[in-house]
Amino acid sequence: MNFKDILSERSVFINKDALSPHYLPEKIIHREKEIEKIMRVIAPVFKNKRPNNVFIYGKTGTGKTSSVKYIMKQFKELPSNGVINYVNCRMYNTRYKILQKLANDIVGFSKNGFPPSHFYERLLSWINNGNKFLIIVLDEIDVIKDLNELIYTLTRANDEIRSGGISIIGISNKISFKNQLDNRSRSALLESEVVFPPYNSEQLKEILTYRANLGFNENSCDSSAINLAAAIAARETGDARYALKLLMYAGEIADERKDEMVTYKHVEEARKNVEKDLVTEAVATLPEHQQLVLYALSILSINGSKYQKLNEEKEDLFMMGELYETYQKVCKQLKREVRSSRWCKEYIRELEALGLVETISSGKGIRGHSTLVRLLYSKDWIKKTVEGMLIHTDSE
Ligand SMILES: Nc1ncnc2c1ncn2[C@@H]1O[C@H](COP(=O)(O)OP(=O)(O)O)[C@@H](O)[C@H]1O
Ligand SMILES: [Mg+2]
Repeated sequence: MNFKDILSERSVFINKDALSPHYLPEKIIHREKEIEKIMRVIAPVFKNKRPNNVFIYGKTGTGKTSSVKYIMKQFKELPSNGVINYVNCRMYNTRYKILQKLANDIVGFSKNGFPPSHFYERLLSWINNGNKFLIIVLDEIDVIKDLNELIYTLTRANDEIRSGGISIIGISNKISFKNQLDNRSRSALLESEVVFPPYNSEQLKEILTYRANLGFNENSCDSSAINLAAAIAARETGDARYALKLLMYAGEIADERKDEMVTYKHVEEARKNVEKDLVTEAVATLPEHQQLVLYALSILSINGSKYQKLNEEKEDLFMMGELYETYQKVCKQLKREVRSSRWCKEYIRELEALGLVETISSGKGIRGHSTLVRLLYSKDWIKKTVEGMLIHTDSE
């Protein structure tokens, strides 16, 4: 094997990037109405008026981030006194970090160790001195820890500003997120609202076709692949990111097998991988003790119960009590403090809500009324995945 061999390998892809979720497409199809609504909210800035705050929500993969980035690109093409600053709140998840980032991007001041008021004052004088309008995009706003304080700080600033202003574009995947806000922040943030509905399968088909034309070589992607990916994503969530991932993995599988065309068969295969991705993501964001409980359940599922089998068919079902024993052992092994069995039950409830485990009531049996737990994913795979995460945080 040499580099030439690798480089001359055939691939179904011409530009794999175009199928990645980070790629910003030129066109955002089926979002014309939503984009126009947001543009109309922002437009007053070109006449030196402060835009209203706007709150955008819709499920993940409905095109919110892409639409706002598309608007930002257009915005920069016309002269104005406004500046739009995009904040990914997963990276900047506190008021402090956000004020610091803004001060850094806008006035080039970001030293650590200063109180937030320092950043705030600098931003304010930049606005006042230049009659500037600062539009802040807070993407995934619901992960900000001290959100009410941040909204309060930013909206109160407008009372202190003599000329210019601050506006907020908040984006959230969580529809119920509004309820997390206190009344004052809610009414401040919700000056206007735009909802992004899930895509249906026809819309997803068009989105995928558009991206497939950019990403795949000519005649390398069969319409059966696009149709199936669109249908699966539409049925499950209406999530374009999921649909794109399916198609991209399908292409990778085709390449691995040296197949010349991506078809629905590769998509079927890809689906299994995407699911694993989603589960890994869900597990990675779990609080540590939920990870420990899940880990304990995978170990128990591998080793089997030390009590008599409940029933041949129920081999993978375990009693809460035995799970708790395993959890205690795991905590000791990994040098984590052990929480009470009541907490363990609570964690199981939360894992069940995420679709990682299932609980069943045993009915009246030898050991009285008890709850039985089952892992919903492959025990070996879960063990390996969670183990990696627990050991990784261990060494930090
Ligand atoms: N209408 C669309 N046209 C083209 N691509 C889209 C469209 N909607 C979403 N996508 C693609 O789907 C993926 C997820 O979109 P994104 O904007 O990140 O969704 P959200 O922010 O709502 O979770 C991105 O790769 C994006 O380019
Ligand atoms: Mg997004």
